Amino acid sequence: MTDLVVRRLMIDLETPFARHWCGGDAFRSALFNALSMSFPVGEQFFIDSVRNGMKALPPDKQEQYKAEVQGFIGQEATHRRIHGLYNDHLEKQGLINVWATRAQKRLKLLEGSDPRHWLAITAANEHFTAIFAEWMLRNHDLLDGSEPRLKTLWLWHASEESEHKSTAFDLYQALGGNYEWRIKWFRRVTVYFLGDTLRQTVNNLRRDGMLWKWSTWKSAASYLFGRRGLLRQSYRPWREYARRDFHPNQQESELAGRWLADNTDKYSVVGAV
Ligand SMILES: [Fe+2]
Ligand SMILES: [Fe+2]
Repeated sequence: MTDLVVRRLMIDLETPFARHWCGGDAFRSALFNALSMSFPVGEQFFIDSVRNGMKALPPDKQEQYKAEVQGFIGQEATHRRIHGLYNDHLEKQGLINVWATRAQKRLKLLEGSDPRHWLAITAANEHFTAIFAEWMLRNHDLLDGSEPRLKTLWLWHASEESEHKSTAFDLYQALGGNYEWRIKWFRRVTVYFLGDTLRQTVNNLRRDGMLWKWSTWKSAASYLFGRRGLLRQSYRPWREYARRDFHPNQQESELAGRWLADNTDKYSVVGAV
């Protein structure tokens, strides 16, 4: 059980930001923008999964998870709303969200299926967001020199992802979800998530006229595979999900609490549950 609170982020998302808001770097901006584009659709799916999962639980179990699920839904609903505002700016910059359209079509195929499938997909995606969040919080200095409003947004989102990383996983277990389904969806989600991230990032760079620049590829190589690279540092925690006795709480998340404690001036708590 986790005490999840909903926070309102106090940043200005009215004023436009630069195309290369991430430290003047085209690749990093394109990658973060791609992830932002996935959130309004993706996080709505996570909310629906958790809601449907709750309905399938017996009443005593519903009572046990009620507060946590409310907190989860409140956090994800806030994220998708904020990323919607962020994405409006991306649209004005000429970027096109192809990820959301593709994801929507795919998710239609799940309609009417067992809620445990939805939860297994959500838990696998939440594993990805949790390890990405942990990496971002650990390497927050890599966002120095970026648009301060967006740096705050990403670290706030990362912290809350870390906070609620167990919710979907626990509901899946509570509904008797087995290891085989969990792993089957984890493998599929890995392929889709990495493929979609790559495709949307490339699309963003192409529209930005930066795809075939040497500086873009150099940045991608060091940001993904360098000593502190995202993929290099995330491989091991990614793989741990395949262990039979895995639970999200086994992975470190104290950096989230620290960021939230150190940045209380950047948000207000709107709902304690
Ligand atoms: Fe989120
Ligand atoms: Fe999440």
